[in-house]
Amino acid sequence: MLTFFKLALSAAFAAAIGVSSHAQSPEPATADAIRPAQGVTLINGYSQHWWKEAVVYQIYPRSFQDSNGDGIGDLNGITRRLDYLKSLGVDVIWLSPHFDSPNADNGYDIRDYRKVMTEFGIMADFDRMLAGIKKRHMRLIIDLVVNHTSDEHKWFEESRKSRTNPYRDYYIWRDGKPNPNAPNGFDPPNNYTSFFSGSAWQWDETTRQFYLHLFAVKQPDLNWENPKVRQEVYSLMRFWLDKGVDGFRMDVIPLISKPTGLPDLTPGQDAVKLWANGPRRDEFLQEMNREVLAKYDDMSVGEAIGIDLAGTDNLVGEDRHELSQIFNFDAARIGSMGGYNYRPLHLPELKAVYTAHATVLGKQDWDTSFLGNHDMSRVVSRWGDTSTPGLRAMSAKLLQTMVLTLRGTAYLYQGDELGMTNYPWTKVSEFNDIEVQNRFKTEVAQGKLTEQQLIAGAAAYGRDNARTPMQWDTTRNAGFTTGNHTWEPVNPNYLQINAADQVKDPDSVYHYNQKVIALRRSDPAFIYGDYQDLDPTNEQVFLYTRSIGASSYLVILNFSSQPIDYTLPQGIQAKDLKLGNYRDSSDPAGATTLHLRPREARIYKN
Ligand code: NOJ
Ligand code: CA
Repeated sequence: MLTFFKLALSAAFAAAIGVSSHAQSPEPATADAIRPAQGVTLINGYSQHWWKEAVVYQIYPRSFQDSNGDGIGDLNGITRRLDYLKSLGVDVIWLSPHFDSPNADNGYDIRDYRKVMTEFGIMADFDRMLAGIKKRHMRLIIDLVVNHTSDEHKWFEESRKSRTNPYRDYYIWRDGKPNPNAPNGFDPPNNYTSFFSGSAWQWDETTRQFYLHLFAVKQPDLNWENPKVRQEVYSLMRFWLDKGVDGFRMDVIPLISKPTGLPDLTPGQDAVKLWANGPRRDEFLQEMNREVLAKYDDMSVGEAIGIDLAGTDNLVGEDRHELSQIFNFDAARIGSMGGYNYRPLHLPELKAVYTAHATVLGKQDWDTSFLGNHDMSRVVSRWGDTSTPGLRAMSAKLLQTMVLTLRGTAYLYQGDELGMTNYPWTKVSEFNDIEVQNRFKTEVAQGKLTEQQLIAGAAAYGRDNARTPMQWDTTRNAGFTTGNHTWEPVNPNYLQINAADQVKDPDSVYHYNQKVIALRRSDPAFIYGDYQDLDPTNEQVFLYTRSIGASSYLVILNFSSQPIDYTLPQGIQAKDLKLGNYRDSSDPAGATTLHLRPREARIYKN
């Protein structure tokens, strides 16, 4: 498929914005084709790729749309909503895991990589959904969860049978440390703790060894040192790529190479950093790239926990042949103090993150822009003002303006295009998330946290906030299901926040998103342009440019809920207002002092 820039670029325009072509003009690959040897078009020094230009929309299938009344979202539900996504303007859908799973971690524990989760449908439903996506000229990436499987995967069921089983080495088994006082006579092999609380080792009585699980007990870690494991993974990747998917979001991918010898963590050592920088990580990813990814016109985005900015180039640098891009959480999780504890957002700190990214990542790297996903609370509740419907809508529009105009491939999480908010949780039993339930069983039980503290923390920052059903309309259960119950509670504010009302209202958050996406698509400066923060220390206003040569945009975001008379620095004038979240402009073209209203966002062409 031709990308929009290739269609739009006249020779003169190309020259003006710094596009050059290396070798012959590239013949663009279709979504399914094996990547041909081709020349590379450069825009502002960056190689051009469809996945750099994409706006990606993440679907958490369990919570998106139920089609059969069982209260659980499914693939036919997604197919029904494809026109909604198409008219929003997104190009790529990232589908959270849709594979067969006992759902200890809602699909991030896979039992069969080649089967669709029963609650979500059958393979024919997947094929129909994929065909519907392609028909609308969108693409699909799926979740590759291969640091671990479910303990119900047949590999693990074999592996745990005996120490000599052919699948034994598919997982990480170790002897415990003898201790006559320990429950089974052994302490775990080392002091690793799981992301979901407690030891990362589970005793298995049949063979009297422990297996490693960095996540839940039901998520044993695969042993990537075993070449057979790697070939199994490459084979399942080919299975889905050959079906026509366009790539993968790769779950906790830096964790696949474990530290040599698995020594104890030393006091104060950063476990995630250690695990993310295993000795064979890059070798494994390069092998995966060589054997699979390089043969398709795909994109790959790694969930790069534990990778700091300086280490990003190792994974995404073009000469590295590993991944297209990664999620770095420096911005989205800014102020994190561990667990559910966060400092309030301090705008200069956030700006410093984006400047650091623009400085450290070069033209051969690529970035991502996102503020939410299925593991995070709702961004408008986190960083916006939800005290009135008006401020909530303006906050949502402002945050989406930022996501869609910063550097990198842009990601929206389902419901953010409507400004969906956190749910008003009041009881531990209301939470579905294994992270909350395990903290209750460990930290609250051990008196490290009170029940009220856990509820307050999870209500503000817990993952269930992102997983309440999509709010489609004002009918019962927000149009998510025709059944009587839903697997997660529906936010009662669906009567005020829902897609049907917003699609009808030209001033809605939904339509504003549509406009920003269209504006982003209209000029390569938003994709390949340079980034400059023009007022890094201002605590209320975020002011930056995206530009390629003469094509320059000025983005102004009032993060406060107060009106501000803001004099632009360096004698800058605000020239041609392209888009704003308030309907009318309060300042004339060329103004140097702007009268910004609460949570106002504007984009000028300068
Ligand atoms: C990261 C995923 O985003 C999260 O939802 C999951 O619980 C863990 N990886 C384990 O797969
Ligand atoms: Ca269903």
